[in-house]
Amino acid sequence: MFKINLRISAILLIMLYLIMVGFFYNFYQHLVVKDAKQEVVNILNTTKTIRKYIENIQKPVIYSLEKRGELHKGFFDSRILSSTYIVDAIHHMYTNSQKLEHKIPYKFKLAATNPRNPINKADDFEKKILEKFRQNKIKEFSTIIKENGKNYFYVAVPIERNQKSCMKCHSSPNIAPKELVQMYGNRAGFYEKVGDLRAMISLKVPLSHIISAHIRDFLITIFIALIVFIIFYIFLYIIYKKNLKLQKRQDLLLLNQNKLASMGEMIGNIAHQWKQPLAQLSFILVNMELNQERGKLTQEKLKEKIDEANDQISYMSNTIDDFRNFFSSVKPKETYNIKNVIIMAEQLLSATLNKNKIELGIEIQENFTLNGYPNEIVQALVNIIKNANDTFLERNINNPKITIKTFMQDSKKVVTIEDNAGGIKIKPIDKIFEPYFTTKQSNSGTGIGLYMTKMIIEKNNEGAISVKNLHTGVMFIIIF
Ligand SMILES: Nc1ncnc2c1ncn2[C@@H]1O[C@H](COP(=O)(O)OP(=O)(O)OP(=O)(O)O)[C@@H](O)[C@H]1O
Ligand SMILES: [Mg+2]
Repeated sequence: MFKINLRISAILLIMLYLIMVGFFYNFYQHLVVKDAKQEVVNILNTTKTIRKYIENIQKPVIYSLEKRGELHKGFFDSRILSSTYIVDAIHHMYTNSQKLEHKIPYKFKLAATNPRNPINKADDFEKKILEKFRQNKIKEFSTIIKENGKNYFYVAVPIERNQKSCMKCHSSPNIAPKELVQMYGNRAGFYEKVGDLRAMISLKVPLSHIISAHIRDFLITIFIALIVFIIFYIFLYIIYKKNLKLQKRQDLLLLNQNKLASMGEMIGNIAHQWKQPLAQLSFILVNMELNQERGKLTQEKLKEKIDEANDQISYMSNTIDDFRNFFSSVKPKETYNIKNVIIMAEQLLSATLNKNKIELGIEIQENFTLNGYPNEIVQALVNIIKNANDTFLERNINNPKITIKTFMQDSKKVVTIEDNAGGIKIKPIDKIFEPYFTTKQSNSGTGIGLYMTKMIIEKNNEGAISVKNLHTGVMFIIIF
């Protein structure tokens, strides 16, 4: 089962989401500008075509009317004979209708180096572009420009190069319609040749308008992404909660199993602790019987023996109370001495240790106090000592010895338990703390001893446990 850390998952998801939003924003801007460019180029090409129609079809018809005398000689009216005027007027109409429909307003401009109407004069920026068109370096030009702190999308294309039909108005003022010369004078817009590129047309659109027209799509996309991310997080949360529940149930099960094992230990030890007083009691009784047979059982003697027997019985009763307290399940936190806990563990295991002739050295360099659950710490120590005991037997070690030390280090309270049983070969060594990890035969080890020990120390008693190999054995280090 994989472990989920909710906080890290949330941070990762938020980061991922922000990256996605940034990515989408860029993507949309790109897309939007691309779309806008296509639209603008289409408008400009249409404009070009209208100019072409005026030059190739409209003007010849009007001039032939003049030739046939149906129009007076020298006739000129920019509304039907100036392609620049006509196209400009069409654009005006177009942008007005766009405005009415609340669509994106475009700014149309014709820019020429030698225009008849001064408002069509190219500025420096436009002159440079026009020059590139003249040299056939580019076919269209687009960029984002900044004006008065606002970004605009700008596209320009050249108009058609001069044709023969243009020459009537743009070569010599002598052959141009009289009314044209009267209207605009004889300076600007003349002396051009067929094939000259006279002007370019451009459209300028505020970028914010283009983007805001598409912002709805962008917002919908990031909103859907947000929903997807939230659903994913909820999904993670549900799995996490389920895992937690399962883990809790498993831990409880293990705790109870371990308690049961310790209970067996306890009964064995009570029996051991009782052996001595029981022998004493039996000795007292035999003694009383002998005295009575010899007629020596005086009143004082009887009282003395009864007191002796009572002492033994109260010792036995105390032993039971001691052990029972340690395994009670109602647990308020308490303040206790580390020494007492170690002694209790020693007493619990004394039968086993004596039987296997294991020396247990206790070096209390600092008898510190702790706050927590002393009975659990006893259980933890018992688990560690029992493992050493098991290993001694398994490996047939001579002069088996376990040493428990308590001391202070860097203002931390430390307990170490070391043995000379030969050490742990498992790699990585921390594996021994995993539940059900055991190297023992199926019926002699369950592999939960050290897992429980770690849980007890780290989860319930705010400590930390680690293990390392020494020359002759292992050392468990508990730090509070
Ligand atoms: N002092 C030690 N010396 C060598 N190996 C050890 C020592 N303590 C623990 N081990 C190794 O760590 C393993 C895990 O120990 P743990 O107490 O968790 O389980 P166990 O003793 O095998 O079973 P049980 O659940 O009955 O305690 C042991 O099987 C043993 O291989
Ligand atoms: Mg064990």
